Amino acid sequence: MSIAEKFLTMEYGPAPEDPKEATAWLERHGRRFGLFIGGAWQPPTSGEYFDTLDPSNGENLAAVAQGGAGDIDAAVRAARAASTEWKALTPHTRARYLYALARLVQKHSRLLAVLETMDNGKPIRESRDIDIPLVARHFYYHAGWAQLFEHEFPEYEPCGVVGQIIPWNFPLLMLAWKIAPALATGNTVVLKPAEFTPLTALAFAELCQEADLPAGVVNIVTGDGSTGEALVKHPGVDKIAFTGSTEVGRAIRSATAASHKRLSLELGGKSPYIVFEDADLDSAVEGLVDGIWFNQGQVCCAGSRLLMQESIAETLISKIRDRMSSLRIGPPLDKAIDIGAIVARVQLDRIQRMVAQGIAEGATCWQPQVVLPARGFYFPPTLLSNVHPTSIVAQQEIFGPVLAAMTFRTPKEAVELANNTAYGLASSVWSENINVALYVAAQLKAGVVWVNCTNLFDAATGFGGYRESGYGREGGREGLLEYVEPRWFKHAETLPAANAPATTQVEEKPDASTPAIDRTVKLYIGGKQARPDSGYSLEVRSPNGRLLGEAPLGNRKDIRNAVEAARKAEAWAKATAHNRAQVLYYCAENLAQREDEITHRLARAVGEKEAEAEVELGIERIFSYAAWADKFDGAVHNPPFRNIAIAMNEPIGTVGVICPKEAPLLGFLSLVMPLLAMGNTVIAVPSESYPLITGDLYQLFDTSDMPGGAINLVTGYASQLLKTLAEHDDVDGLWCYGDEATVAAAKAMSTGNLKQVWTNEGRVIDWFNSKQAEGRWFLEHATQVKNIWVPYGE
Ligand code: NAI
Repeated sequence: MSIAEKFLTMEYGPAPEDPKEATAWLERHGRRFGLFIGGAWQPPTSGEYFDTLDPSNGENLAAVAQGGAGDIDAAVRAARAASTEWKALTPHTRARYLYALARLVQKHSRLLAVLETMDNGKPIRESRDIDIPLVARHFYYHAGWAQLFEHEFPEYEPCGVVGQIIPWNFPLLMLAWKIAPALATGNTVVLKPAEFTPLTALAFAELCQEADLPAGVVNIVTGDGSTGEALVKHPGVDKIAFTGSTEVGRAIRSATAASHKRLSLELGGKSPYIVFEDADLDSAVEGLVDGIWFNQGQVCCAGSRLLMQESIAETLISKIRDRMSSLRIGPPLDKAIDIGAIVARVQLDRIQRMVAQGIAEGATCWQPQVVLPARGFYFPPTLLSNVHPTSIVAQQEIFGPVLAAMTFRTPKEAVELANNTAYGLASSVWSENINVALYVAAQLKAGVVWVNCTNLFDAATGFGGYRESGYGREGGREGLLEYVEPRWFKHAETLPAANAPATTQVEEKPDASTPAIDRTVKLYIGGKQARPDSGYSLEVRSPNGRLLGEAPLGNRKDIRNAVEAARKAEAWAKATAHNRAQVLYYCAENLAQREDEITHRLARAVGEKEAEAEVELGIERIFSYAAWADKFDGAVHNPPFRNIAIAMNEPIGTVGVICPKEAPLLGFLSLVMPLLAMGNTVIAVPSESYPLITGDLYQLFDTSDMPGGAINLVTGYASQLLKTLAEHDDVDGLWCYGDEATVAAAKAMSTGNLKQVWTNEGRVIDWFNSKQAEGRWFLEHATQVKNIWVPYGE
């Protein structure tokens, strides 16, 4: 074609990126890679290798080692051996290593981008301009945290050896999200890349060598799901960080339940993309190009559910189709390509299957007329309209370039539809009315909300999900908390295992000087006293066997009623922080007024001295959380775009609390008050040793303007009530304080709905020591960060 002809048609010519440097790199390694363990390369013990392909043409790129349990063991040992020295380095020295890694990523950025595109199939435009610059940014940002670590986290220690498992959609970026915060906080790492895309992780291992990173600080073990499983199960690992499918996330939750491994999960999503009638429709359409066609839609936070206000639906659909027709699909190394290849044959099959099922369920399918390359794995950009909200394509992650469109009429309906999913990773809201946009943003159950923008990421702005999208955040200050533990907690003793419920223990003869039975308490549900469904009571005895009274034996129906009441009381979350503080202060005031009588009753269970301390410190603890209520607020980040990101500390929602047996009053207040201060509604199971405290507690709440349902009390056997709380889909989080067996059960039972569980790991907490039992550590677990990105400028 002559230049004149080209000028007339304005067709794009091919603009291929030259892969020769990447090919030379592969050749230098003989297209065969071992495992990176203890700073050196070694073959897998099994002697097995698997092929990694270029999905744009199906060609073999290299053979990669299949790591087995023995290799994982060697890597964990290497990481452990390196841990002491790495932890002991000055923060400045660690900062220099991270800084060096950032510089090296920049120095080799083109090689990394080309390798990433060859291994994954994503357009070079994306790997070059988005993935790799963000990788460097993560190492720079965390070099900063390494430098500041001792100042900013003086009471914290690294977890130790961290096992990290990453997916194939952003291979090097996910590595950076995992490795940078782990190293910055003094952990050492064993990382398993995804089997489809191991190459850039192996190139990164070379950068670690180039940076002279001490041997064993970073270990890379390639392999498939079984390699990941061996890492999850290895007893020498202190924490697992995982990104991938919800199904594997569940398997990992279950496999780690009986251990003390910390766990963070970043799972799937079905993120809503909400367009109001007053939105700038052309910008919203352009946003969709990034929202659902970026990386072929293989993005956990892809805006895969388009929710359009009915009045503009037709216009919007027509604009979307026009834009889809100009998307260029083809070989991803071409710099002018918008949509590259799907990562693997199995993923392509999955997309095809789900789209076919969506059509069978009534969706209308539209695809532009495009010619797909003859070789490789490609799927055209696809629009499914008339999608029913319950259809598979509206509910399940497709992980492909497929948009499912639905309509709504009012902002209320938009919020309902948006939240009608088990996930809660991200969302986009498009409206020129900032009041509407922020009002809707506040109601969306998602860790990230992009207002009039989409798919923006930055190291300073945390990323992570609500509900079945997982727990924990990556990036920001909150991301670091996933890799550290309070020093005292890490070294705390383990509680003795409970033999029989303390309530039935008879150790000494009863003391005849006080009357045996003086009161019978009830449950407290929705602000009212309630009889237990079972009609049974528990005898409550002092440690010396004296009968102190009777408490109701709550069962699963009582818990369900309490959950319903807690859900109805969600207005508590919307009360201003000042109002919540006032209610808490009032509780403290009323506890102070009854100090003598409550101390007297409690003394019979725990002794005079402890009872006095519990009540006195209890008043102080409530004061503390009343003080925190309007001070534990969020932050405003300033990412390197024309955006602000408002990081809000939102309540978890409805939280179940299994209180410790010891310190019946102070233990209860130490757990329930931070939750209430942050706007959660609570179903608490008070101390199994002294459930009679419930009577004093509800009198306190009744007289303190606490709204009915914000706090509910169900007494009974923790081991029985725990199950209902853990399995209940309407309970968002579970705090469980008990011995090792109880907390392991809490974690295992919460696997089904991936509930956030926070426990004492069966360790002793000194409730009388405010350095342990009070403060930010509790507040951080009582909240989850939502980041709302808002652009500014013209
Ligand atoms: P996957 O969850 O199986 O793979 C992610 C990582 O976990 C890989 O490194 C894999 O080797 C490892 N893995 C697999 N089984 C494991 C086990 N039992 N224990 C420990 N590690 C294990 O994801 P897959 O099969 O590649 O993709 C399936 C679907 O998952 C996709 O279609 C998509 O819907 C979703 N997905 C979501 C991602 C996200 O970022 N949220 C990323 C990748 C996939």
